[in-house]
Amino acid sequence: MTVNGQPAEGLVEPRTLLIHFLRETLNLTGPHIGCETSHCGACTVDLNGQSVKSCTMFAVQAEGAQVLTIEGIANPDGTLHALQEGFREMHGLQCGFCTPGMIVRAYRLLQDNPNPTEDEIRMGISGNICRCTGYQNIVSAIQHAAAALRGGAMQEAAQ
Ligand code: FES
Ligand code: FES
Repeated sequence: MTVNGQPAEGLVEPRTLLIHFLRETLNLTGPHIGCETSHCGACTVDLNGQSVKSCTMFAVQAEGAQVLTIEGIANPDGTLHALQEGFREMHGLQCGFCTPGMIVRAYRLLQDNPNPTEDEIRMGISGNICRCTGYQNIVSAIQHAAAALRGGAMQEAAQ
């Protein structure tokens, strides 16, 4: 598979979950394990253009896939992605346990809908549980990022 733009391979047992392959074989510990039962979303990664709970599929099912984790979200020049900036600026996290999954999920949400309403954001992250924030600042962080990304896109179009 390709993970964060780099080729990645490994030999796994058929029962190995994708989250375990990412964390234990590739040492990508950004995706977290909260429940291992597809409920919390802490393990969310982007796989072939869709948000996936990586505890919900086997590593072998991702053979040949394009995978994006929180480790690959930053801009190519190393600066923070607008979502990372948004979470920092709007205090979209407390303990941070849910944050890698939230940001990767929000990344796909904004790819699919660059200008979501608050309701659409809340629906969009409804598969990701946060035990700390009450969600309001996460919604604000995603709105902040969406506005920044739209602004950047408008600037590029104008040039
Ligand atoms: S660890 Fe995958 S959804 Fe909770
Ligand atoms: S910031 Fe603690 S679980 Fe979300």
